[in-house]
Amino acid sequence: MRSAGPAPVQWPAEAIWEAVEPRLPGFTVEVLPEIDSTNTELMRRARAGRLEPILLVAERQSAGRGRLGRTWVSGEAPSGALPSLTFSLGLPLAPTDWSGLSLAVGLAVVESLHPALQLKWPNDVWLQDRKLAGILIETASVGEARYAVIGVGINIAARDAEGLRTPPAALTEVLPGVDAPAALERVAAPLVRAIQRFAAQGFAPLRPAYHARDLLYGREVECSDGLTGTARGVDASGALLVHTAAGLKKITSAEVSVRPAAPPTASAP
Ligand code: BTN
Repeated sequence: MRSAGPAPVQWPAEAIWEAVEPRLPGFTVEVLPEIDSTNTELMRRARAGRLEPILLVAERQSAGRGRLGRTWVSGEAPSGALPSLTFSLGLPLAPTDWSGLSLAVGLAVVESLHPALQLKWPNDVWLQDRKLAGILIETASVGEARYAVIGVGINIAARDAEGLRTPPAALTEVLPGVDAPAALERVAAPLVRAIQRFAAQGFAPLRPAYHARDLLYGREVECSDGLTGTARGVDASGALLVHTAAGLKKITSAEVSVRPAAPPTASAP
């Protein structure tokens, strides 16, 4: 007799569709058991002229991608439950100014999940100084239209460090018992609302809310381009402000990664 295997995951596709479709006509929700990357798939579809609004969820990604050409690995959860939530939201978007979009997305993710979550500029989600979630935003231009693909990966269950400098955090640390479908239901509609608000109003009105979640504020930071200094929050366009020996510098480039510097070691008496 064959064993039944794991029960199929129940996704809240209909509830999400009902919450989102009235404000995003034509919106659909699609769940795939496996794909290379939800971002890659929606970019492929956009380049083929398919620009409809969609939430694409994958239970597994074989080639998940992160920012700066890194890979995104979901890992394995000991329980057999999905170790992470991986999805991309694709939609036509025409903000007057794109700057700050990734911060607005990060803010929507943390605010919909838990008060303890923080943002590491530009849009990594951290919990107690460990990374919990990552966001990858890509855009495709098709004729006059611009299509945004907003990919989100959230660690749900605790797992090994897997060679990472800092072991990842898991959402179950602050929301015991939460699973990937429940996390998606919390995030999806608020994310769409936040993106639409951003398209209408830009980042500036979100600056105070970002400040409240800013992991780096007041901390010594090291940027991948060699700049070091004290993080001083973000400006109205979402640029990171760093107080350096040469004065206040603005970091706007998505190509620059920033990390909190190691705390000073106590000197011997
Ligand atoms: C990062 O931390 O550098 C960003 C990680 C983004 C991962 C998500 S998972 C869903 C979507 N598909 C991908 O291939 N990447 C994003």
